[in-house]
Order: sequence, then C-alpha cells, then structure tokens
Amino acid sequence: MITLDGLTKVFPAPGGGDPVVALDGIDLQLDAGRVHGIVGRSGAGKSTLIRCLTGLEKPTSGRVEVDGTDVAALEGGALRAARRNIGMVFQHANLLDSRTAAQNISHPLEIAGVPRAERQRRVAELVEIVGLSGREHNYPAQLSGGQIQRVGIARGLAAEPKVLLCDEPTSALDGSTTHQILTLISDLRERLGITVVVITHEMAVVREVCDTVTLLQDGRVTQTGDLLDVAADPHGALSAELIPLPPAPTGIEALVVNCDYGDSPTIRTSDDLVRRAETYEAAATIVAGTIETISGRQVGRVQLALRNYSGAPISREGLDAFLRELEGEGVVTKEVTA
Ligand SMILES: Nc1ncnc2c1ncn2[C@@H]1O[C@H](COP(=O)(O)OP(=O)(O)OP(=O)(O)O)[C@@H](O)[C@H]1O
Ligand SMILES: [Mg+2]
Repeated sequence: MITLDGLTKVFPAPGGGDPVVALDGIDLQLDAGRVHGIVGRSGAGKSTLIRCLTGLEKPTSGRVEVDGTDVAALEGGALRAARRNIGMVFQHANLLDSRTAAQNISHPLEIAGVPRAERQRRVAELVEIVGLSGREHNYPAQLSGGQIQRVGIARGLAAEPKVLLCDEPTSALDGSTTHQILTLISDLRERLGITVVVITHEMAVVREVCDTVTLLQDGRVTQTGDLLDVAADPHGALSAELIPLPPAPTGIEALVVNCDYGDSPTIRTSDDLVRRAETYEAAATIVAGTIETISGRQVGRVQLALRNYSGAPISREGLDAFLRELEGEGVVTKEVTA
C-alpha cells in the first residue's frame, strides 16, 4: 500500500551551516490493511516522513508511493486528489471551537464540496463508527480529551481514505483513554480494512495496536518487521525497548542471570527456563522480568536467581554449563552480579 524507495530529504540549514539530512535513503514497504508503528527518538525524522507521505513536503530524492500513486511527483489538483486518499490524525485534534463535533467532522467534506445531504449521511455514519453517538451536538469545550480525539479520527476518515496517518495520536491522553482510542484504531482496521500508520514514542502503543514496527534513527531505518519478530529478536535495538528488563534486585544470595528467550525455538515460556535449570540440579527463581504475549507467543526477558538444592548459589561449572546450553538454544544470557 505504501512503498518508499530511497526516500531522502535534506533541509538547508536555516543559519547557513551544514544541511540537515532528515531522511537518508529510506526503503520501506507497508502492506495494506495493517497497523504500522514508526518509532524513533526526537529528531529521527518521523514527522518529516509523515509530511512526505502526505505530499506536504517534497523529497529531495526518492519515491513515495501511496496506493499506486507517486505522491512526490504530483502537483496542484492531482496532489489534492491523492491527498484525499490519506487521512491525518494529530496529537491535538485542533478542533474548531465554534463548531459542534458533527460540524467539525463535516468540515473537510464542505471544503471538498460534498453536497449537504451526502455530508449529513456521512457524518452520521462516522459519529457511529467512532463511538460518539449522543455527543455529536457538543462543542469541543463540552467533550472529554478522548471524545475530542474521536472527533479528530472521524474527521480524518471523512473523505473515506485508504490510509490513516496518526502522528502521536494518544500522547496527550491518560492510560485508559489511550486504550480506548487504540481499540478504536484496531476496530477501524477490522471494519474498514484501512491501512494505518502510527507514529509514537510510546512502546505500550506499539505493543497494543501495531502489526509491524519500524525504528528510525538519524533518518535511517535500523530495524523493521512484524511486531513479534522484532520483539523476539534479542539482538535488535527494539526488543529491549519493547520488553524492558527492570533493574537487578539487590541483596540476593544467588547467581543472577538475565535470560532473553524471545528467539528460542525450545524455550517458549519462563517456566521452560525454570524446568531446564532443574536438569542442572539448580533451583531457579524469577526475581524480575517483563513477559509479554505478542501474537499468541510469549516473549520475555527475565532475571533468574540460581541456587543449588541446599539453598547456596550454584557452582561456577554448573552455571557455565547451563548458560552454554541456553545459548545453544537461542536464549541470550548475561550474568549480573547480585
Ligand atoms: N523545515 C525544516 N528545516 C530545517 N530542518 C528541519 C526542518 N524540519 C525538520 N528539520 C530537521 O530534520 C530532523 C528531523 O526532524 P523531524 O521533525 O522529522 O523529527 P521527529 O522524529 O518528528 O522528532 P520529534 O519526535 O521530536 O517530533 C531534525 O534534525 C530537524 O531539526
Ligand atoms: Mg515529530
């Protein structure tokens, strides 16, 4: 649905210094009907990427293909037509305060010259889709933050786009409202078959709603793939962020090891680790960890305290043999001093 081919954007330095390479030869394929997450630190190029997708920004070089059209090559009316295929949702919905929810949703349709009866039909449909029934005549000041974002999403969907681009859609919302908005985004993908791109700095958003995730660093793609593959790759930069390990516990009389078993074909759960330790006559206790189930598969980073059956830390040889076996099965281990 979206294909980026060598997408590069260089900004001249406003003060006349070295130019800024915001996007540096991005190749990316985002399939239709899925929710794609794009993450990266501040300044990585996320907003520039979104602006290139909407045609607001012209790339310095490269192709930006959305639904078969090279957006970067279009001008004027052709660009405006292509843009209608792309809905936008922002962190702050920026609603017009003097218009009701329904009138805000209707606004882009008015601009596009959609006849009144058609507009009313479409707005009623959108109000229902985003779960705003009963609130459509409220003004923004009479809506909660979550409801305001629902209006923003409905407005983004007004022209029946095939792609919905969301730039930090939940960053201004609290935890439970974030969850509701993400549930809505998932529902839209199911109901409308729409392709969604979510830019976010929140890993919880990626875990909850994204099918794929792409990491941007200094204008380059450093990791991309299906969420499970990326989370389960213990060597990738993203897995430690998606599945973080809490700080090591202190004051434990045991040898402590970090085990990252995302990629292992044989160690599928933390219980498997505990059972495997038993074959080395060791009692393993999970003292810290993050375990997530992604696409039905358990991915975890856990910290094991290992003791022998009399309660003392296990022997050096026993530990080394145990860790060698785990490494051989794709578990990434790291000894930590307790
Ligand atoms: N119009 C511009 N002129 C010059 N430099 C720009 C312009 N727009 C962005 N940049 C530079 O390009 C780089 C990428 O900026 P961008 O806004 O895409 O980052 P971002 O990933 O969205 O960051 P954030 O998470 O803080 O929003 C930055 O170094 C920024 O200073
Ligand atoms: Mg940005």
